Amino acid sequence: MLDSTLPLWIAHRGAGKLAPENTLAAFRLGAAHGFRAFECDVKLSADGVPFLLHDDTLDRTSDRHGVAGALPWSALSRVDAGGWHGPAWAGETLPTLDAIARWVIANGHGLNLEIKPTTGLERETGRAVGRACAELWRRAATPLLLSSFKPEALEGASETAPQIARALLLDKLWTGWFEAAQALGCVAVVTNHRCMDAALLARLHGAGMRGLCYTVNEPADVRRLLGLGIDGLITDAVDRYPAAAAADAA
Ligand code: G3P
Ligand code: MG
Repeated sequence: MLDSTLPLWIAHRGAGKLAPENTLAAFRLGAAHGFRAFECDVKLSADGVPFLLHDDTLDRTSDRHGVAGALPWSALSRVDAGGWHGPAWAGETLPTLDAIARWVIANGHGLNLEIKPTTGLERETGRAVGRACAELWRRAATPLLLSSFKPEALEGASETAPQIARALLLDKLWTGWFEAAQALGCVAVVTNHRCMDAALLARLHGAGMRGLCYTVNEPADVRRLLGLGIDGLITDAVDRYPAAAAADAA
């Protein structure tokens, strides 16, 4: 199993909301604020290239419209994924998983890679991302944790990259989540912070799993979760918690 133990503080979508999400510029900004671990969302182009984007469509975070996964990488590579956030970011491109992997590995950072399939392509996306990560991290020592809200995506990743650790993402505690996480061989569960409490964290720890939370931005929520002994905090507020992230890395 590759190392999957991330620092406590993890920058959401690269640098949360301070830079265009899921771009290399966002990762660089997160790192400039002291973050040493990053979360981002990965899906497939129509010709199978893993790249970073949160939504199914390009509408919210680029200068184009429509379902991103319907386009080949030759078209996606020309999309402006920065100008929507502000003129300073214009021209920023959609990063490939390959590019992000090179950057995190070269800089010794940890990555929580959320498999965010285009709707209907859950297993295929998990399989392709697993295959790509197995190759990209073949000689790397930096931590990598794959996660997804979609059990089929995690199943796909376990088929092509059983040695890369998996985490089930939960927005709600749906019936059967615990059994699903165990059946998927998850080393961790990442919940909406509102779901997390002492009993849930104790249940996870008792089963040998870690408990992480997203998206934790408010100081009161940070205090509550740290008091529980949480294993990871995914945050947008990279400018609010930079000292904590730097201390975490020391
Ligand atoms: O991976 C944690 C978090 O990113 C899940 O929610 O919608 O921001 O991808 P979302
Ligand atoms: Mg995400």
